[in-house]
Amino acid sequence: MSDQFKRNILITGGAGFIGSHLVRHMVTKYPDYRIINFDKLTYAGNLENLRDIEHLPNYQFVRGDITDLNQLREVFNTYAVDGVMHCAAESHVDRSISDPLIFVHTNVMGTASMLQAAKESWKENMSDKRFLHISTDEVYGSLGEEGLFEETTAYDPRSPYSASKAGSDHLVMAFGHTYNLPVVVSNCSNNYGPYQFPEKLIPLFIRNVLTGKPLPVYGKGENVRDWLFVGDHVMALDLVFHKGASGETYNIGGHNEWKNLDLVHLMCDLVDQKTGKAQGTSRNLITYVKDRAGHDLRYAIDAGKIQRELGWVPSLTFEEGLSKTIDWYLNNEEWLEHVTSGAYLQYYEDQYQNR
Ligand code: NAD
Ligand code: TYD
Repeated sequence: MSDQFKRNILITGGAGFIGSHLVRHMVTKYPDYRIINFDKLTYAGNLENLRDIEHLPNYQFVRGDITDLNQLREVFNTYAVDGVMHCAAESHVDRSISDPLIFVHTNVMGTASMLQAAKESWKENMSDKRFLHISTDEVYGSLGEEGLFEETTAYDPRSPYSASKAGSDHLVMAFGHTYNLPVVVSNCSNNYGPYQFPEKLIPLFIRNVLTGKPLPVYGKGENVRDWLFVGDHVMALDLVFHKGASGETYNIGGHNEWKNLDLVHLMCDLVDQKTGKAQGTSRNLITYVKDRAGHDLRYAIDAGKIQRELGWVPSLTFEEGLSKTIDWYLNNEEWLEHVTSGAYLQYYEDQYQNR
């Protein structure tokens, strides 16, 4: 394929939550890069997330599976891929508890296949290539009341999800060490923002408040997460991809710890304010339910390294980010309705079946 683009970047999982924000950022900020969005479109992949940019000449969607090495070889070859931003994964802890094997298959075998395809394709010259693996702070396990995850914290994953991500991180580092593949890993805290599938805490609870359904708080709601607006994560990924040192890990986090119950209260109050309901209306929907098995108590990131070395800091406060997020869900009820009913699955057939 003739190449009028400066770079050809393969983003995996680009129709999911973080991946779709990353694709939008990369295609619009770098019109001289071709962005190839490679996604299997599982339940979590939704091309409606990218409706606004899918017409751009430097955007290409390919439906495919990261565990299919032959298909990956073909994509690397066809598009002369010279950079990878690898987001595709099974990503929800609760699903990993009920169905762990698909997490091992996708996250471990899928990442190994991505690395193998890159290694084969780049073997003549690795120097101008880059493989960014997008991972999670959950690989570090769970904190007590004190302390922060640093890049040097020993891995101690405790759910099938985090264990499968830890396995994938180790493979990435091993390919860097053994074959000199120019890899870099980012480990980020909990993201929130527009286009997040309503199975994760924030979008699920916004949807349930809007539809008057119970808000199922696990245990006593005392678990702590460090929340980061997805747009700030994407800015960090852009920096790590372009400027991060090969073989390094960068932690990304919001310096923004919230106990689940405090977060849910804030979210309920903001929705009440924005929808003109009496204060306390949405809090009444809170229901305490059985705790998640093996529920990690606390995650919190020390993001000092990426700040010092790459100059990254989050741009939004949590109150700003949460308010923006709630506004987006209030203004995009059709999107929510489509993901809830499953209608989004039809979008691929309608848009792409004849292309
Ligand atoms: P998501 O579940 O919203 O999206 C995952 C995407 O991967 C979907 O589009 C899905 O179709 C695709 N996918 C799944 N299996 C595939 C396969 N076999 N082949 C090709 N595509 C496949 O996930 P997300 O929340 O956007 O997370 C993206 C990445 O960021 C994941 O690697 C996750 O571990 C990591 N991460 C997520 C968070 C968070 O809070 N959501 C935080 C830190 C890191
Ligand atoms: P989640 O969004 O699933 O992210 P993760 O488990 O990867 O941190 O959950 C965030 C926190 O919210 C976590 O402590 C579990 C809790 N939670 C609930 O209390 N109720 C829910 O319905 C969900 C989905 C999560």
